[in-house]
Amino acid sequence: MPLDYNSIFNHCLDLAEEAYPFTLRNPMVGCSIYNKKNEWISEGVHKIYGQAHAEINALNSIKNNEELEGATIFVSLEPCAHQGLTPSCAQTLAQLPIGKLVYLTKDPNPLVSGRGEKILKKSGIKVEHYKNQILENKNYLLNHKFFKSVVSDGAYVHLKVALSKDRFINQDGATVQISSLEASQEMHKNRAGCEAVLIGVNTLLKDNPKLNVRHPGFSSQNKVVVLDPSLKSLEIINNSNLLKVREAKNTYIFYDKALKSKYSSILKKSDVRWISVSFSKDKAFDLHNLLRILKQNLDIHSVFVEGGYETHKKFIEAGLYERVDIIDSQTQLLKSGLKWDLKSKLKEATLTKRLKVGTDIFNSHFY
Ligand SMILES: NC(=O)c1ccc[n+]([C@@H]2O[C@H](COP(=O)([O-])OP(=O)(O)OC[C@H]3O[C@@H](n4cnc5c(N)ncnc54)[C@H](OP(=O)(O)O)[C@@H]3O)[C@@H](O)[C@H]2O)c1
Repeated sequence: MPLDYNSIFNHCLDLAEEAYPFTLRNPMVGCSIYNKKNEWISEGVHKIYGQAHAEINALNSIKNNEELEGATIFVSLEPCAHQGLTPSCAQTLAQLPIGKLVYLTKDPNPLVSGRGEKILKKSGIKVEHYKNQILENKNYLLNHKFFKSVVSDGAYVHLKVALSKDRFINQDGATVQISSLEASQEMHKNRAGCEAVLIGVNTLLKDNPKLNVRHPGFSSQNKVVVLDPSLKSLEIINNSNLLKVREAKNTYIFYDKALKSKYSSILKKSDVRWISVSFSKDKAFDLHNLLRILKQNLDIHSVFVEGGYETHKKFIEAGLYERVDIIDSQTQLLKSGLKWDLKSKLKEATLTKRLKVGTDIFNSHFY
């Protein structure tokens, strides 16, 4: 029976998705291996950031290398050519007696793209880049953060907002839960998929949120970034819920550099990471610069921007977002609060995904 590439790659991508959100800044990749008689013999996934890649996990469950004689390996991303946290997959595969490797998406990193393919071809292995737009799109959505991050100098922005049926993000004088339990669980999974949550100082002052990951199976020790130009958080930060659920060193508060000398002795007494940055001409943070600082100086490669309104507005006006999730409640009516009128200001998305989660609709926009 000839091999059905479409269904094999669909399966590879489904396998890969099981690793969400554990691969963090690495891609989610699936691999499937067939022997020379076209019989399935193994499969593997890249499960956790820093650990073995999909091809290696698939190879590890094959006991006898003779089974690989003339085998075909399917992998959803071009095998990596460089030694990172793990050895180069292309180099490992090049040592084996496999006949052919078929991959779905080229390595998006311009510095290494095509090099994995070259290594394999040089060792006599046939290589095919399988082209199918539907599967490419599926991989693009799955690995959007990775594909965008490798070509960006700043942290990836995943912006999220939960809206009541009447488009409010909060209610005057009350703390309300807008999303259904199921949508909340999905949101916590997405929180875990980013390296930090980002909020504006008003959300900290009004809601005193924890912003940790509350989902069975995922780590709750995430990082938090607060945009607080005038250091309003100083009065409450030590007793805040943010610090009840995480170490102070995992809390980053950005403030206006002009205040540095006045407050430096007070700030030194706290283990919170106080980051001073200069304001741009419009008396706000230069968000492009801030995202660069997050990635390049603080090793935070992605942020989950939760809001509130003013914070969203600044990111949206600057056009600095790669993914926007709008969670629409179908049931909750709030009647007062801050109205989220920013949808019309969003750029046109490259791809969108609509999902019913509990009683809510998740509208994801990918740029
Ligand atoms: N439904 C949801 O998904 C959701 C999510 C999060 C929050 N919320 C709600 O949103 C409400 C708060 O929203 P909000 O609009 O009042 O405030 P916010 O966005 O939480 O905080 C805004 C403040 O943060 C600082 N800030 C944010 N971006 C900045 C930038 N680029 N440059 C300089 N400073 C910046 C400014 O502080 P200064 O004022 O000191 O200049 C600004 O006034 C809360 O009630 C919360 O419940 C809803």
